[in-house]
Amino acid sequence: MPLIAVDGPAASGKGTIARALGRHFGVPHLDTGALYRAVALSAIRAGLDLGDGRAVGAKAAALDLSLLEDPELRGAQTGEAASRVSALPEVRAALLAFQKAFAAQPAGAVLDGRDIGTVIAPEADAKLFVTAAPEIRAHRRFLELTAAGRDVAEAQVLADIRARDARDMGRSDAPLRQADDADLLDTSELDIAAAVRKAVELVSRQLDRVS
Ligand code: DC
Repeated sequence: MPLIAVDGPAASGKGTIARALGRHFGVPHLDTGALYRAVALSAIRAGLDLGDGRAVGAKAAALDLSLLEDPELRGAQTGEAASRVSALPEVRAALLAFQKAFAAQPAGAVLDGRDIGTVIAPEADAKLFVTAAPEIRAHRRFLELTAAGRDVAEAQVLADIRARDARDMGRSDAPLRQADDADLLDTSELDIAAAVRKAVELVSRQLDRVS
């Protein structure tokens, strides 16, 4: 069964696309960003310094998986904190084995994140790098946040997205980047249905090549 890697920046649509790929190809899906978000939440609630690799790494090593269902998991503050703790090598090391084991399932898998095609599953059968212009990603995130009743300014959402991109791409341990053998999928001009169709087409073509 296929192993599919989906990477890309915040609000690019990679999560929706990866879930749809999981359904289409009949493989289990793991949102790896949720793991970093859960680590961030547990660190915030324990009052830890988010730059303290040892203390936050210990939280990651003993991760309380019930946090994956926490209503605060998707909040903007959690995303921002997740981006910070994900730069800590101790945190990345603690989450590595779980992600690699998920990728190695005989049933196949699709994982989405920032370093799936480069670090977690460089051997993946198919790889996508999903992106969109920062202004478009900010607009989508702004619509989601306002629909959820949050009072936010679009300019602030854009500033946050740019800061998160810079941090995720600039860190030294497993930075966000397109794997050399990943297909680029720019969703700037595509709605969800069109983006999913295109993703299925690109992945199918890559899988045909390996089989
Ligand atoms: O995809 P997301 O917004 O839920 O991810 C939150 C943060 O987690 C993101 O800013 C960077 C980090 N992350 C990572 O470093 N590596 C991954 N594979 C997934 C997420």
